[in-house]
Amino acid sequence: MAGKEVDALTGIETTGHEWDGIQELNTPLPKWWLYVFYVTIVWAIAYSIAFPSWPWLSGYWGGLVGYTTRGQFNERMADLEASRAGWYDRLGAASLQQINDDPELLQIATVGGKVIFGNNCAPCHGTGGTGRPGGFPALVDDDWLWGGSVDEIYKTIQHGIRNDTDTDARISQMPAFGADAMLTSAQIAAVADHVLALSGQGADNAEGATLFAENCASCHGELGKGEPSLGAPNLTDQIWLYGSTRQAIINQITKPKMGVMPSWAHRLSDVEIKQVATYVHSLGGGQ
Ligand code: HEC
Ligand code: HEC
Repeated sequence: MAGKEVDALTGIETTGHEWDGIQELNTPLPKWWLYVFYVTIVWAIAYSIAFPSWPWLSGYWGGLVGYTTRGQFNERMADLEASRAGWYDRLGAASLQQINDDPELLQIATVGGKVIFGNNCAPCHGTGGTGRPGGFPALVDDDWLWGGSVDEIYKTIQHGIRNDTDTDARISQMPAFGADAMLTSAQIAAVADHVLALSGQGADNAEGATLFAENCASCHGELGKGEPSLGAPNLTDQIWLYGSTRQAIINQITKPKMGVMPSWAHRLSDVEIKQVATYVHSLGGGQ
């Protein structure tokens, strides 16, 4: 091992190490780098003492400051719950009308109602309430079977329609004029023509009009405009549950289809039903 000397070529001191005539220059790390390095070591040790870190055989070092991510999570959940309890209580105390009159409550209710709708109602009524073929009505238009005020909508959702589970469910039954031989098939064809005329799809039929007045007007109204207390649809608009063709109308008169909707009183809280009723009412057709 040679003594330290100054390398002639570069003018830098050597470390004194030498291998086969190759000498090592002494070029230490810059001082600033070294100090930053020491600081990070001190920081790491202090950090691992302050916060949860080293594993023990069973468990781990919990840290001096008592911090845990779970604790932080629980704290945030408690905050959220507290802020929610505030408006949940307010929605619970307010009437549907008060919710509609208060812009802040209205906003909270419709935002919450939209989520509830997506989770529970969209499979039948379509995303956003646009309805589905085969008797699942659109809820975005202003055509209502059972009434479009927020109170009527609330009642429909709360108890449902023609289900066996809720004794307060909305109920009505269109007679099976064909299947129960109340009208002949010629009479059914005639009254179907009158229904087509009511919705602007063809010429009227005098016999059909008389039959309509005698057999149908009690539910669908003299002019066929419907009756919400019976869930009897308006037959003069172009909105159909079961189809607008002559055959579809004849089928309905012969052996009617009747829509069933579950009751929600047992599955959703009252506040949730208020929210989803407010949301449906806000979709555009609310009265
Ligand atoms: C299993 C399918 C189904 C589900 C789920 C369902 N509905 Fe319905 N809903 C129907 C049917 C069918 C009708 C039409 C019943 C009839 O013909 O009278 C209806 C009718 C309605 C009406 C009355 C419409 C009118 O014109 O008067 C409202 C309001 C309504 N549903 C809201 C909801 C809401 C809100 C939910 C979710 C909480 C929901 N529905 C879930 C099938 C469903
Ligand atoms: C006791 C009441 C009642 C009587 C009487 C009645 N209907 Fe109905 N009708 C209803 C109800 C309720 C519905 C809706 C069924 C549903 O919501 O699924 C309906 C639905 C219909 C529909 C389907 C509408 C659509 O949107 O697809 C037609 C068409 C119709 N009725 C025609 C008639 C004709 C024609 C008569 C007389 C020969 C008649 N109804 C008598 C209650 C009645």
